[in-house]
Amino acid sequence: MDSTASSLEILIPTFCVVLIIYFLPKIRHILLKRNKLSYPPGPKPWPVIGNLPHLGMAVHQSLAAMAKTYGPIIYLRLGSVDVVVACSASIASQFLKTHDSNFSSRPPNSGAKYIAYNNQDFVFAPYGRRWRMFRKICAVHLFSSKALDEFQYVRQEEVAVLTKALAQSSKNSKGSPVKLTDLLTVCITNALARVLLGTRVCGDVEGYADEKSQDFKNMIAEIMVLAGVFNIGDFIPSLEWLDLQGVASKMKNIHQRFDAFLTKIIDNHNKINAASNEKGNGSKHSDFLSKLIGYKEEDEDVDGGEWKLTDTDIKALLLNLFTAGTDTSTSTVEWTLAELIRHPNILAEAQQELDSVVAYGLGLSRASPLMVHPKPRLEAHVYSSIKF
Ligand code: HEM
Repeated sequence: MDSTASSLEILIPTFCVVLIIYFLPKIRHILLKRNKLSYPPGPKPWPVIGNLPHLGMAVHQSLAAMAKTYGPIIYLRLGSVDVVVACSASIASQFLKTHDSNFSSRPPNSGAKYIAYNNQDFVFAPYGRRWRMFRKICAVHLFSSKALDEFQYVRQEEVAVLTKALAQSSKNSKGSPVKLTDLLTVCITNALARVLLGTRVCGDVEGYADEKSQDFKNMIAEIMVLAGVFNIGDFIPSLEWLDLQGVASKMKNIHQRFDAFLTKIIDNHNKINAASNEKGNGSKHSDFLSKLIGYKEEDEDVDGGEWKLTDTDIKALLLNLFTAGTDTSTSTVEWTLAELIRHPNILAEAQQELDSVVAYGLGLSRASPLMVHPKPRLEAHVYSSIKF
C-alpha cells in the first residue's frame, strides 16, 4: 500500500508536468492571439531562417508574384525580423503618407553600426528631435533657394569644366567612346564637395578623373554596395558575431578610410578658421562644413535650442550627404542621357532646344550653358527621369 501511494505521488506530478509542457505552446498561442491583431497573409516561414528562401535572387519579382497570391499587403519573417510589404500604391500611401510618422524611422542595421558612426547619422536617426535638427540644417544651408543661389556659381563652374573636358575628350579620342560615368562623377562629386567642404576632392583641374578621384569614387561605391548588401547577421542576430560573409569587417575598414578623410578635412578647416580668427580678418570659409563647425561653438542650435553638434555628428552627416548625393545624381544624369540616346527624336528635340539658346561654341566658354532659359523640353526630360 505504501509503495502504491508513493508511486502515485511521483506519477501524478509527472503527468501534470507532461500535460503542461504539451499544452503550453497551444495556451501561449491562444493567449497571444487574443491580445494581438493578426498579421497580414504571407507564405509560411521556415524555422530560424523564416521566409528568406522565398525571396529568391530577384526580390522584386518574388514579391510581385507573392502579391498575386496573398494580396497587396504581405507579412514576411526574414530570419527573426518581422517585415510587412506594401505591394500597391494605395497601401504604400497608407504607410508613407497617412501613418508616416509611425514608419519614418529606418531600422538600424550593421551598415548604420559600422559605417555610420553607430547610428549617429541623419539617415538612421529615429524620427524625432535629432532627425529634425539634421533635416533643418540641410534644408536651411543646402536646399533652400538662398543656399542654392549662393552656390550656383559652383555648379556653373563645375559644369563648365565638365563641358570642356567632354569637348576635349571627343577631339583627342577621335570618335572613340568617352567614359562618361567617370567625368560625371568628377563633376558631381566636386560640385558637392565644394559646397560641403569648400574644396574639390577629385579629378584634375581639367575635369578628368585621376587617381585621387578613382579612390574617392571607389570609397563611395564601396559604401553604397556595403550599405545595400544582404548581411545574414542583420536577420539572424545569433549569427552576427560570426560575420559569415565578411561584411562587417569590410564595413569597419571603409569606415576607417572615410573617417580619416573627413578628419583631415575638418582639422584643416579648424586651422584655417583659427588662423583667420587670430588675424581678426574674419574671412572664414562659407561652406557647409564651416556652418556645421559654427553650430559646435554657438550657444544656440539651428532650432534655437541647446543642441551642440559634436565632431561625430558632423562627420556622420557629411558621410550621408556624400553617399546620398553623388551616386544618385551621377546615375540620374547617366540614365537620362541613355534614355535620350535610345529615343533619337526626343534627343534631337532637346539638342534643338539647347542650340536655340546657346550659340555653338559659346557654351564652352560661358560658365554653364544649362543656366540659360528657357529650356522647357529639356527640363521636362530631367524631371521625368528623376520621377522614375
Ligand atoms: C537625383 C538625385 C537624387 C535622388 C534620385 C535621390 C533619392 C533619394 C531617395 C529615394 C531618398 C529616400 C527618401 C525616403 O526614404 O523617404 C533620399 C534620401 C536622402 N537624400 Fe537623396 N536623392 C538624390 C540626391 C541627393 C543629394 C544631392 C543629396 C545631398 C546633397 C541627398 C541627400 C539625401 C539624404 C540626406 C537623404 C536621407 C533623408 C532622411 O533620411 O530623412 N540626395 N534620396
